[in-house]
Amino acid sequence: MNIRCAKPCDLMNMQHCNLLCLPENYQMKYYFYHGLSWPQLSYVAEDESGSIVGYVLAKMEEDSDDDPHGHITSLAVKRSHRRLGLAQKLMDQSSRAMIECFNAKYVSLHVRKSNRAALHLYANTLRFQINEIEPKYYADGEDAYAMKRDLVDFAKMHSLKPAEPNTFWDSHKTSSNKTKDNKDE
Ligand SMILES: CC(C)(COP(=O)(O)OP(=O)(O)OC[C@H]1O[C@@H](n2cnc3c(N)ncnc32)[C@H](O)[C@@H]1OP(=O)(O)O)[C@@H](O)C(=O)NCCC(=O)NCCS
Repeated sequence: MNIRCAKPCDLMNMQHCNLLCLPENYQMKYYFYHGLSWPQLSYVAEDESGSIVGYVLAKMEEDSDDDPHGHITSLAVKRSHRRLGLAQKLMDQSSRAMIECFNAKYVSLHVRKSNRAALHLYANTLRFQINEIEPKYYADGEDAYAMKRDLVDFAKMHSLKPAEPNTFWDSHKTSSNKTKDNKDE
């Protein structure tokens, strides 16, 4: 099994994997938007024959009044290849690239309240924290947990070199730990 950065020619296979695994689907142009705007951030897992068995689709958020931060748009691993550590590796690779290329201090995502496997992965393995609940976030009316992972801690733990060390190591414990209620403190 191999994890590598996604190329434009992978995007259709990523969409195929998404359609097999998740009810949240996107038009091809949304995959291209990610792949062309932030080519460093999306990764694929391929099997021995080069078939794509998992992916993470990621981007940088563009609101300038907060610390630079990434966002996971979609993550999935085909049923036949689960519990092999692929999702964890895909997420770690993308987090690392967010730090090294874009100075991201945290990464955010949404997950269904009922998605036990993903919640386990995010909260227990990857150390995401629940930031808030977004009621009826999904099209079928289910609530989402909005979660964040502190990338300053992650960078320290793995001795990573951020894109701009001066601002990255500054004022640790910033927005990744703010909740909605104390956002402006
Ligand atoms: C969630 C998903 C991406 C996990 O992929 P994966 O490659 O199987 O995950 P990993 O092997 O990296 O798992 C790492 C850890 O996450 C947790 N985890 C993963 N799947 C789990 C499950 N079904 N139940 C409980 N914990 C689980 C475990 O702690 C696991 O470590 P362990 O195997 O040593 O116990 C996969 O189940 C999937 O594609 N689901 C459908 C799509 C989806 O829900 N995507 C997320 C949308 S927010």
